[in-house]
Amino acid sequence: MMERAMLWIYALLFLAMSFTAALAESNSPPHIIFILADDYGFNDIGYHTKKIFTPNLDQMASDGVKLENYYVQPICTPTRSQLLSGRYQIHTGLQHGILTNCGQKGLPLDHPTIADKLKESGYRTHMVGKWHIGQSSIEYTPTRRGFDTFLGYLGGYEDYYSRKSSNGYDFFLNEQMYRETEGRYSVDVFTERAQAIIEEHNSTTPLFLYLAYQSVHGPLQVPSNYTIPYESIKNKKRQTYAGMVAAMDEGIGKLMDTLKASSLWNNTLVIFSTDNGGATNVGASNFPLRAGKGSYYEGGIRGIGFVTGPLVSAAAGQVNHELIHVSDWFPTLMYLAGGSIDNEELDGYNVWEAILGRQKSPRYEILHNIDPFNSNFLESESKIFDTTAPAALRLGDFKILTGQRLKARQKTYQLFNIANDPHETHELDGQEYSDVVHRMLLRLSYWNSTAVPMLSREKIASCFSWLKQG
Ligand SMILES: *[C@@H]1O[C@H](CO)[C@@H](O)[C@H](O)[C@H]1NC(C)=O
Ligand SMILES: *[C@@H]1O[C@H](CO)[C@@H](O)[C@H](O)[C@H]1NC(C)=O
Ligand SMILES: *[C@@H]1O[C@H](CO)[C@@H](O)[C@H](O)[C@H]1NC(C)=O
Repeated sequence: MMERAMLWIYALLFLAMSFTAALAESNSPPHIIFILADDYGFNDIGYHTKKIFTPNLDQMASDGVKLENYYVQPICTPTRSQLLSGRYQIHTGLQHGILTNCGQKGLPLDHPTIADKLKESGYRTHMVGKWHIGQSSIEYTPTRRGFDTFLGYLGGYEDYYSRKSSNGYDFFLNEQMYRETEGRYSVDVFTERAQAIIEEHNSTTPLFLYLAYQSVHGPLQVPSNYTIPYESIKNKKRQTYAGMVAAMDEGIGKLMDTLKASSLWNNTLVIFSTDNGGATNVGASNFPLRAGKGSYYEGGIRGIGFVTGPLVSAAAGQVNHELIHVSDWFPTLMYLAGGSIDNEELDGYNVWEAILGRQKSPRYEILHNIDPFNSNFLESESKIFDTTAPAALRLGDFKILTGQRLKARQKTYQLFNIANDPHETHELDGQEYSDVVHRMLLRLSYWNSTAVPMLSREKIASCFSWLKQG
């Protein structure tokens, strides 16, 4: 009897201790590694196609949770601005296109970035790779937007080796132009930088690492040995592109080895996402989705995404079909960090429980965008949205696309049921679905009434002129 009682006491003590350990664990904010690929197509990852080999990404995704109903924006600046601000473009003035001009203003300075907020919550924050949300003055660059350090480029694209873009040489360490890595393939440079950050990081402080690879955006460049496994691909662009994917996959594999060998690993969340659909004119594929980069059809906006690491081990191997959007990372990561977003008017939702498969996604709607460029509909008094203006909205299973682009076809909008017809091959009859159309246009009117004016697209400074200031 005595022994039984002792066993019970031991068992209870053990339970109490593991409970405390679990609490302590959950109370220490996780290290967050956010890996963003550039222009990475839906059909270009091993678990979506047998023709492209991504052993590292596949392993990470199958150890974690694949997000298979995950949306991004159709081009670079819009996705990056929403990821970093948690806000739709209509609420930041970045409604139209990308920042094409390095003198143009960027993500407004009165919107804190996720890095600002995580820093406030005690994180060390690092950025590696492509920025592309503002560089007209030093205030718009990463180290003034919440990142303790930055190694990378500020514009949209450049040569993978020479670091030259149409704006000239574009590569920085923090706030200084940096030439040390000239001539090296950017995957290697960015992976090594990320590895060093992880190795040097003291795990008692939470880490946020935003690693935005150049890959696999054009120009089509890769060390030639990466294309050897793809010699059977006849389309030369796709062959090179496949090699670029392989180089990125290898780099991420090395990074994961470093991470797993570090003391950070057991409290780390790794997120992988594309920034938009693949550019089919440079070898990417979004099959079986319709269209690609730049389009509000699914091929432009339904993205590759997954989460992995010990924090999601309870859901490891799951394929998740909850509706999730790139703006949701901001509130989700803030929730994990234990920080406050009470003062922020965000468009994202905390989707953590939905990612773990424990709850439905709180998201029912995505405003893909309303673009007022070249359009005077903003002045319209009408309660019903003017369908000649370019916009796209998801509401439940339905998606509506409006805009001048469709005018040539004597119509100003298209309606699809994405749940039944994810490839958008069967356009619904607006008359038959007039209730749905009506409801969606009311939602667009509502969103439009909350929009801020589009930022000027005028060039206000010459490229990197702020460098000279100091
Ligand atoms: C990490 O930080 C803690 C707390 O500041 C400190 O006690 C510890 O010595 C540091 N570890 C290393 C390896 O620097
Ligand atoms: C290509 O060559 C580089 C440099 O030697 C090497 O690090 C890399 O692993 C090689 N990749 C492939 C796929 O052979
Ligand atoms: C995680 O790793 C650190 C450092 O190795 C260790 O102190 C801590 O107890 C570990 N936590 C868990 C829950 O395993």
